[in-house]
Amino acid sequence: MNRKVTVVGGAGNVGATVARALADKELADVVIIDIAEQKAAGVALDLLEACPIEGSDSRVVGYGANDEGWRATAGSDVVVITSGVPRKPGMSRDDLLGINYKIMQSVTEQIVKYSPNTIIVPVANPLDAMCQAVYRLSRFSRERVIGMAGVLDSARMRTFIAMELNVSVENIHAFVLGGHGDTMVPLPRYSTVAGIPITELLSPERIDAISKRTARGGLEITELVGTSAWYAPGSATAEMVEAILKDKKKILPCSVFLQGEYGINDLFVGVPVKLGARGIEEIIQIKLTAEEDAALKKSAGAVKELTDVIKV
Ligand code: 2OP
Repeated sequence: MNRKVTVVGGAGNVGATVARALADKELADVVIIDIAEQKAAGVALDLLEACPIEGSDSRVVGYGANDEGWRATAGSDVVVITSGVPRKPGMSRDDLLGINYKIMQSVTEQIVKYSPNTIIVPVANPLDAMCQAVYRLSRFSRERVIGMAGVLDSARMRTFIAMELNVSVENIHAFVLGGHGDTMVPLPRYSTVAGIPITELLSPERIDAISKRTARGGLEITELVGTSAWYAPGSATAEMVEAILKDKKKILPCSVFLQGEYGINDLFVGVPVKLGARGIEEIIQIKLTAEEDAALKKSAGAVKELTDVIKV
């Protein structure tokens, strides 16, 4: 294939799910990098052996996080970072801050060295702070560091709306802005069923319940499974990578470095953006009510507390 995507931490649950989605859709060759060298080779081989069945000629290879592995990533079109410690029950995304920051430092250095023109999609938590770390460390333009969170959070909201109204998820569009944490901001006014805002279809109480369930969607899975979610995060990441590789100009909520948009400065926060071959091609500014704006600013404040701790 003439496109290459590297998935760092690709032997883990989220990484392997991303790699699988990309290979299944024959979007690119996939290089899996993981500190678990043998597992990286095994997961890659397993995915490669699925390709004949899926009708895909994607080449999937797996390496340890060593010189040989990083050399194999050279010239990647997109690098997804799923490495990092996942949440255990009772642990917040923020608890992961220090541990995962160190991982971002070593990983970003290698990405910049081998793929200086790539687009990076961080997935590690706490998401927005890790994006900011990668952005500062890489010194890439803001168009080329795009965090995965809003697509996942919106997918969860779409799921809950579909369950509530017993309609196809395909009819549902949902918008969730803000940081990927407890303060995220589901936007019912912009969430629709076949174009009809859910505010016309559901009571304020039901909308509130859906919004609350969305905000603790990651926690709900962690409590049930005993570790972080991976299927929905993997699918969400793959949707972003596909939009970039195919230059789809798709509008998706992503964590991006704001420089005055929404009145927020120098901070990664989730907002709608247009994704294409150049990465972020436009930041879409939608009108917010005073209440929504206050919630977004509160969420940005929560992200800032974390970025201040790691000084990025
Ligand atoms: C989640 O929300 C892993 O943070 C991710 O499930």
